[in-house]
Formats: sequence, structure tokens, C-alpha cells
Amino acid sequence: MAATCVIGLQWGDEAKGKIVDILTERHDIVVRYQGGANAGHTVVYGGQTFKLSLVPSGIFRPQVQCVIAGGVVLNPASLIGEIEGLKARGVKVGENLLISDRAHVIFPWHFEEDRLLDVQCTSGEAIGTTLRGIGPCYRDKVGRSHAIRLGDLYRDNFRDRIAQITAAKNQIFSSFKASDNIKLLDAAKIHAEYAGFAEKLKSHVADTTAFLLDSVESGKRLLFEGAQGSLLDIDHGTFPFVTSSNSSGVGVSSGSGVPGRHITKVVGIVKAYTTRVGGGPFPTEQDNATGQHIRDRGNEYGTVTKRPRRCGWFDAVAVRYTARLGGVDVLAVMLLDVLSQLPEIEVCTAYELDGRRIAHFPSHVDDLRRVRPIYETLPGWQTEISDLRRIADLPANARKYLDRLSQLVGRPVEVVSVGPDREQTMFV
Ligand code: IMP
Repeated sequence: MAATCVIGLQWGDEAKGKIVDILTERHDIVVRYQGGANAGHTVVYGGQTFKLSLVPSGIFRPQVQCVIAGGVVLNPASLIGEIEGLKARGVKVGENLLISDRAHVIFPWHFEEDRLLDVQCTSGEAIGTTLRGIGPCYRDKVGRSHAIRLGDLYRDNFRDRIAQITAAKNQIFSSFKASDNIKLLDAAKIHAEYAGFAEKLKSHVADTTAFLLDSVESGKRLLFEGAQGSLLDIDHGTFPFVTSSNSSGVGVSSGSGVPGRHITKVVGIVKAYTTRVGGGPFPTEQDNATGQHIRDRGNEYGTVTKRPRRCGWFDAVAVRYTARLGGVDVLAVMLLDVLSQLPEIEVCTAYELDGRRIAHFPSHVDDLRRVRPIYETLPGWQTEISDLRRIADLPANARKYLDRLSQLVGRPVEVVSVGPDREQTMFV
């Protein structure tokens, strides 16, 4: 009975895919349990670079069982595209991929709703979603009456469900302005398209909750692969500038059906700095030459949407909060090499709010918007480190930087990454 979780502790894009890929060797099953095709994981395997959105990174090892659990929202077209793309490049995708019949399905109306409704949130700022229909699909899941799960695609009343829902959605869409350019939904066309998707996915569809419970109870080693980061968690993140699922550690059980008591290790992934895509407060953001330097060095552009990521200093207040929230045991610090040329590096150790120093992460986004980060300045190391393979070989200032992050967050650093390749990874 053992399960490991890999979760991002910032606003996503912490390079979780690389750590999942490395840990996969020691696990029997890799599970995606929340989010959808808003996530983008880059995995370098066999000298080739793969971009995955829904398929767990364990897919490159044929002996590993990959599972897309019920907490995920599925865009079937994108999933099929991913599966076919992998097969075309020689990766085996067959019985080694199971998809939950409980996963909710994204339909064309969800894309339309994402486009129409992400106009503004609080203070007139848009959430800046990935426009992949994620929020609208989760909204329908919670609302229930307009929701369709993958298992429903194989039921006799599937055609009727599509007809009912498209009628309801068309009624809502008709109230939008002509300038919103809405194309009303065609039930027959959508049914035909999704019946085709259902056929293509059929061999993968299963009750993954039962499968995972049987597996974990019989001693199989599970690896949970979080998508996005903890600060984007719907309940515990920087609401409303979040995604619509539990992207912190709290989502593992609800998304997969596997109780928390089976989780024996939680690895929290952080970048050596911070990035964020989309709207919302970001106290340590460097909207200046330093931020641009980090963006250029770290190639900080969205995997899914290609948007430039907002870049800034490491925020230990935020990560201390998410490490505690996720029950994190150890940290993996990624992209340390990106900071190599900087003469000095700042780390946010506390915030100032209304003239008072605070050490906690504010629960209300308006307070987070008003905080002033309090920085500690550490000396940089100003030499390239991508070719180094042992932590002991890192320049003293790089080791001091890692020690300070660990101390501030309150968790040991177990892994340090200095480049995209597997070999560019150091273990304590
Ligand atoms: P949504 O998940 O498309 O609804 O987008 C909600 C917010 O989460 C936006 O700020 C997105 O930029 C952000 N987001 C969603 N997925 C990711 C991700 O994989 N990495 C980083 N940010 C993400």
C-alpha cells in the first residue's frame, strides 16, 4: 500500500512532468486525477520531446498502467489527437491507458461559454482562462442537469441528452449580442461527432475508481500526477483567479477515489522562481528587465496557449502555505539554472499588509493584491550549472540559495533540476 503524489506548489508550470517521468520507474500505475487539456506537460523521452495534456507521462513505459481518473474533464477530440500522435511516434497506447467512465466530457458549448464568460471577474480583470472549456464543464458537473460523463456516451439515451442540453444551451446563447458571434449548436452534428469519439475511446473506458482501489489494496505502487499548481486550486487558491478543480494535494482523493490514508509521500514541485499565466495578483512579479531575463532564460511561454508567462521572485510565503496544504514531505526545485546569470537573487520571506508584517498567505484576493513583499537578497552564483550532476558540485551560493528556500518553506529539498533532460537532475 503506497502512493506518491507529485503536486505543483505555485501557479502551475513547475515542470512536474519531468519529476513524474523519473518517479514512474518506481511505480506501477500513474494517475491523472483533475484538470483537463488546460494542462501541458513536456516530457523528453528517447531524445524526442513530447507535449502531453491529458495522457499521463507514464505512457512512455509500456509496463506502467496509466489512468485518467474521474476528476478529470475530458476533451475527447484532444485526447484522441494525443493518443494518435503518440502512436504515430511509436509509443504504445492500448490497455496501458484506462479512462474513467465518471470523467465529465467537454462539449462545444463549453468552449463557447469559456469564450463568452471569461470577460471579467472581480475588479474588471479577466481570469484569462486557457479557453479549453474547463470551467464551464466543471460548472455543469456541479450543476448536474447539463452534465454528461464519459460513461453516458455509451447509453441508449445519449442522443436525447444531447438534444435536451443543446436546446437549453441554445436558449441561453440566443440572449447574447449579435457581436458575440455565437453559432447556435446543431444537436445532430454534435451527436454524430461524439458518437465517433466514443467508439474510438471505447477500449480504454473503465471504472477506474474500482481499479485503483483494487490496485492500491493489493500492494501496487501508485503515482498521482497533479496538473496546474496549488495556488490555482478552486477552494484554496487565489480565488477567483484559479482553475476549476482541486489542483492542490486535496484533489487527489476526490479526483481518483483513492483515500488519503494510502498516500505515503508527497513531492512538492517548485520553480526556483515564480511564474503565473493569466490574471490575478502575483506579489513577487517582476514586470521589468529581471522578469524578461527569467522569461527568456526559462523559455517561459505557455505550453498550451503559448502566452508569455508572468515571471518573478520565489515567494516563500505562498509556498510555505501550499506545502502545508498539500502535506508535502519533500521539495523538488526546478529550473535552478535559469537564475545562473543574476548577480543577486531576491526571495520573498514575508508580506507587509496595512503597515503590518504578516507571514501567512491572505485568503482574500484583494488583500493579496495589496501586500508588499518583504525580500531577502541572496548573492547569485553567476556561473552555468546545467552540466553539473551532483548537489555537492553546485557553487556555494547556489547551495546557500537552496538551503534558504528549504528553511523558509520548512521542507527538505530532495531533488534539484538544472535543465530539461533527465540527466540534468540531482538527488540529495
Ligand atoms: P482554466 O483552467 O482554463 O479555466 O484557466 C484558469 C486559470 O488557470 C488561468 O489563469 C490559466 O492561465 C490557469 N491555468 C490553467 N491551466 C494551467 C496550467 O497548466 N499551467 C498554468 N496555468 C494554468
